[in-house]
Amino acid sequence: MTKTLLITGASTGIGAATARAAAQAGWNVALLARSKDTLEELAGDIGDSALALPCDVTQRDELDRAIAQAVAHFGGLDAVYANAGKGVSSAGIEQGDPEEWHAMIHLNILAVLATAHATLPHLRKTKGHFVVTGSKAGRDHLKGSVYGATKWFVQGFAGNLAEEMREWGGRCTVITPGMVDTPFFDEPKPDKIQPEDIAAVVMFALSQPATAVVREVHIMPGD
Ligand SMILES: NC(=O)c1ccc[n+]([C@@H]2O[C@H](COP(=O)([O-])OP(=O)(O)OC[C@H]3O[C@@H](n4cnc5c(N)ncnc54)[C@H](OP(=O)(O)O)[C@@H]3O)[C@@H](O)[C@H]2O)c1
Repeated sequence: MTKTLLITGASTGIGAATARAAAQAGWNVALLARSKDTLEELAGDIGDSALALPCDVTQRDELDRAIAQAVAHFGGLDAVYANAGKGVSSAGIEQGDPEEWHAMIHLNILAVLATAHATLPHLRKTKGHFVVTGSKAGRDHLKGSVYGATKWFVQGFAGNLAEEMREWGGRCTVITPGMVDTPFFDEPKPDKIQPEDIAAVVMFALSQPATAVVREVHIMPGD
């Protein structure tokens, strides 16, 4: 039976590339992000194996509705990629903007938790896989980076979730890229990791046999 992958932050960058790669590999893909038009265009490009589910993943009712629609449409979930995330425009602590921190923490931490909380009952049924986008910034210390600190949370959470999920045969992987050429940055970064490179790594993690669990993939630019 065709497997289903639900992706948050699927409209651009890493999420959109992963949607294309997963569909290419024969998965159904449920695409979550706020930008309705971009999401529908992507789903249209991919075809019948894609379902656009516009929503704000920081709003639990919207997230729950999208997950329910994905499950109703495809019959269940085999994998979830909690990938939606953002940075801040004011760097550092002293010069930082607490309002921006609040919104970023809501997305990078609380929405990842909500995505796991809402999808685990479905993944349990399929002994499924939860993948989450961490960062190099969640493994190293970067001067004053609150963004990096949210990814340190993701790094710790992914390991703890892996231990919880293994009790019922589930698996969890954190992907920790260095700089990736996506709309995360205002300027193109053609020499850095391409979103398709990350998508390939996600598909690698998802395609391992029962004997091997990929817990973390750290990927850096080749320059
Ligand atoms: N680019 C890098 O160098 C890099 C490195 C390490 C880790 N990461 C991480 O990789 C992940 C993906 O980022 P990216 O580089 O691919 O950048 P991106 O192209 O900006 O992707 C971010 C995605 O998150 C979605 N999103 C933002 N807020 C949302 C919300 N409230 N509800 C639902 N979706 C939301 C965006 O879509 P909408 O705006 O349509 O909602 C978009 O699809 C993030 O977690 C980021 O922290 C990026």
